[in-house]
This record gives sequence, C-alpha cells and structure tokens, in this order.
Amino acid sequence: MLVRVDLNVPVSAGVVGDDTRIRAALPTIAYLRERGARIVLVSHLGRPKGVTSSELSLAPVAEHLAGLIGAPVAFATDSVGSVAAAAVAALGDGEVLLLENLRFHAEEEANDPAFAAKLAALADLYVNDAFGAAHRAHASTEGIAHLLPAYAGLLLEREVSILTALLEAPEHPFVAIVGGVKVADKIGVLERLVTVADTVLIGGAMAFTFVVAEGGSVGASLHEDAAGQAIALRARATAASSGCELLLPSDVVAADAFSAEAATQVTSADAVPAGWLGLDIGPAATALFAERIRAAKTVLWNGPMGAFELAPFADGTRAIAAAVAACSGTTVVGGGDSVAAITQFGFAGDVTHISTGGGASLELLEGRTLPGVAAIPEVS
Ligand code: 3PG
Repeated sequence: MLVRVDLNVPVSAGVVGDDTRIRAALPTIAYLRERGARIVLVSHLGRPKGVTSSELSLAPVAEHLAGLIGAPVAFATDSVGSVAAAAVAALGDGEVLLLENLRFHAEEEANDPAFAAKLAALADLYVNDAFGAAHRAHASTEGIAHLLPAYAGLLLEREVSILTALLEAPEHPFVAIVGGVKVADKIGVLERLVTVADTVLIGGAMAFTFVVAEGGSVGASLHEDAAGQAIALRARATAASSGCELLLPSDVVAADAFSAEAATQVTSADAVPAGWLGLDIGPAATALFAERIRAAKTVLWNGPMGAFELAPFADGTRAIAAAVAACSGTTVVGGGDSVAAITQFGFAGDVTHISTGGGASLELLEGRTLPGVAAIPEVS
C-alpha cells in the first residue's frame, strides 16, 4: 500500500525539529499496521527542485518515525526504480518503509504521468494522508490517484471535514482571527470569512494596511501599498454588506526598532508616532478580542497578532492563544505561525483541531478545490 504523507518537517544537521506533522501521520500508519498492510510511505521534504541533496534526505525522518512507532522503519534511497522496488519486495506484513524525498525527481512536481506510473507500480492501493500537500497537483498527490484504487487517510479526512464544516455549518457566534504580515497573502480567506463569520478580528502587521487605507497614521509600521489597501477596503465593504463585524485593534504596542531591546509605548493604532512601528496589539484591543473569542461557539485562528518571537511583543498573541484555548466552542488553528504560537505558549492540547496544512488549509478555507482531495472519490 502506497501512503502519501506530508513529512515536510524541519531537519537540521540530520535531526528532526518540530515533529508535529510526523505525529499527525501516526493514526493512519497505526491503523494500517494493525491490519497487516505493507506500508510504503512517500513524502516530499523542502523544495529541492529535482536535485538530490543530502540536507533534504528523508533518512533522519525515517529514524525519528521509528522512534515514535516503536518499530523499525526501513528506508530506500530512491522513491522509484529498482532500489525502491527491492525495498518494497523486502517488506513483511505490518512493516513500514519510507522512500527517499519524492522531489529529488523533477517529475514529481510536474505531475508527470510516467513518474506517477512508476510510483503506482510499487503498490496495489493508494492512500493520501498528506493534507499539507493536498493543494499541490503533483504525481504523488494527484496523478497516482487515477492509477490505483485511491482512499483518504485519517488525517486528510479529518482536516477536510473539520475545515469544511467550519465554513458550511459553523455554530454561531463564529469568530475568525486573522493575523500575519500581509493582507495580500490572506485575501481569499478574508473575503470568504467576512461572508460567513459573525466577527473577524484583524491583528498583526496586516492591520496597518487597513489603518492606512482608512486614513490613519501608522508611523514606520509595516503596511502594504495601494493594491493591498484596496483589498482591505473591499474586505471592509463586504463585511459591512454581510453584517460581519470587522474589528481592527484600537491600540498597539509600538517600538522604536524591530528589536527586543527597543523602547516601547502603547499608542492608538491609527496614531503611531513617526519612526515608531507597531509590533503587537495593545492591551485594550487584546481585552476586546479575547472577550469576543471567549463568547464564541466557533473560532478559527490564522496568523499571529504581532512579532511574538520577540518577548516584549508576545503578549497579544499569547492572550489570543489563551482565549482560544479557554473557548468552550469548536476551536481551529491553521497556518504555520499561529500553530507555532499556540504550541510555544503551551495551549496546543486545548483546541479542537490544529491544522497541519499551511497553504492547503488557506486554500480550503477560501473554498478552493484541492487537487489531492478532488482525486480521491470518497472525499471529493
Ligand atoms: C507545506 O509545508 O505547506 C507543505 O508541505 C507543502 O509544501 P510546498 O509549499 O513546498 O509544496
């Protein structure tokens, strides 16, 4: 059985860092092992663009996975061809094999039919559990699904059902928190959320694009040009016509430099002094945002409230993480930085669902069809 997983995790000097994505793949692996399947795992790691590189080898991931499942994980130094075929042939029932980084072959990202056929030749069944890569139409996520009987893994199924339900049948009040640096990166999600959420809370540097668009002074705060501002104004207009409350932070923590040692002051978000830059939401905004979140029945959080990696600017993001954790409704966190934040602040165990998809969860929340999902008959 060929199982596409997303084991795209940070690896440095041969050691796996944050292993959230590996752990997220464990339920499907356990399910298949218990049933005696011969499990051939395939994944990408990083973006080697068709070139083999030792830094992007999945070998350390195989070792790490073996530790997590408490059983050996065989490793093959190529994802196709005779090396892969020999490793597959050596597998016993219930055993696990990981093949080398698919992206060492350019044909993977090109969704090359011949490459998909080579992968398909290694198994009788295909399972896609790589939600994080489901927005990519690659040979291992899309092409192969047309060549073998194709099924969704437990993670992919859970991600799709939770994120879809959020948009299609959320319990109200539905509060969405959108942060991060650029409005332009979140345009599709924002436009969708203002039509389905009761309240959208905007934090992070993207709030300043709204503030500038609406005539405020943001000092040296990061903000986007006219194109980003136009998106912000459009989101504001759609929110108004949909009856969605779109809240910007009323106050911010401003600093005289992007540094943990900088001087700081709390200012109104639309009156940041010249030369100062807003790096976190302020106490009044934090209190209001947290109040809305605690009263919600459904919460979606995507993107941090500020430069939480610097201690003096972490309070807003930490308080939002705490409020999401304290909310008794359905709480979903998606997007790399907010996932990192909720984990860093120790609240990861207190939310309903943490999405393993960065781009994939954004695209699903925008309402776009993910090629890796569409190719699986039972979930599409
Ligand atoms: C991710 O990290 O979001 C997924 O693993 C997809 O990686 P990619 O953006 O390199 O396709």
